[in-house]
Amino acid sequence: MLRSKSATVASQALPAAAVHETAPTGSLPGRDAPTIPPDHVYVPHAPPVPPKQLVPPLNFGEGGRVVLDAGQRGIRSRTHLIIPDCQVHEGVPTEHLEWVGKYVASKRPDVIVCIGDFADMPSLSSYDKGKKAFEGRRYVNDIEAARSAMDRLTAEWRNIANYTPRMVLTLGNHEDRITRAVEDAAILEGAIGLHDLAYESFGWEVHPFLEVVNIDGISYSHYFTSGVMGRPVASAAALLRTRQCSAVMGHTQITDAAFHPRTQNIAIFAGTCYLHDEEYLGLQGNNQRRQIVMLYEVDNGHFDPLFISLAYLKRRFGS
Ligand SMILES: [Fe+2]
Repeated sequence: MLRSKSATVASQALPAAAVHETAPTGSLPGRDAPTIPPDHVYVPHAPPVPPKQLVPPLNFGEGGRVVLDAGQRGIRSRTHLIIPDCQVHEGVPTEHLEWVGKYVASKRPDVIVCIGDFADMPSLSSYDKGKKAFEGRRYVNDIEAARSAMDRLTAEWRNIANYTPRMVLTLGNHEDRITRAVEDAAILEGAIGLHDLAYESFGWEVHPFLEVVNIDGISYSHYFTSGVMGRPVASAAALLRTRQCSAVMGHTQITDAAFHPRTQNIAIFAGTCYLHDEEYLGLQGNNQRRQIVMLYEVDNGHFDPLFISLAYLKRRFGS
């Protein structure tokens, strides 16, 4: 960077080693010594300022205790953050994903679980195919909406120094529409696929639809089944009975929780994480909690759950 001497007052305060009035007189021809006119000074680029760490990463301190910015000692607990169904498609608001991203950046959970149905994929819906509401849907628009929203969600934390959470995404039935479309029409094989969503490129460890992922003694899946028909369990209490361990799922829109009185295991239906209403849910079906779920003090299947509404996130992080 070259600046005029007369216009660069700040450069006078730079250390002598950082300011070169002219190229070194003894430099050899052909070497990389900069050729600088005598009435200019060379000002090196300032090193980038690392982002402020609001909460220290888990590997700081001993025994979960860390020294905070003010010099006080604090407790760092192991945490999981769950992002329920977002059902992103063209035309729906996505500013809440920025609020969620800012919450992640401020709390730095050790594990982030996106519980599936992040992408809605309405162009591949068999539910309302041929109906008036289906008109105008395009696969490429669904993919573009999902990628853009995922970029908005992860942008807030993915470049924070020393923060590399485990990011787990359990695919939902809406993303599975892509797989089923190829199975139903082999001509599409190689033309479309789950890779179009590019979830891995945002840092997610992607798990197939209905695979159960166990992390720190807690089972995660888009939903858990019961009975031979493979239908989703109907309540958190049923989930607790079926799995016999702590478990978290999405899919159903409703929020539900069940606590086992002796084992202290907890089952959670995580609700939804979107602002729009879904037409297929009707006039009364959209009155559900919209939120994220944070699990504090995670230890071998036990944890302290916190349900954080999108309304709170808007007040805290919305512009
Ligand atoms: Fe679902």
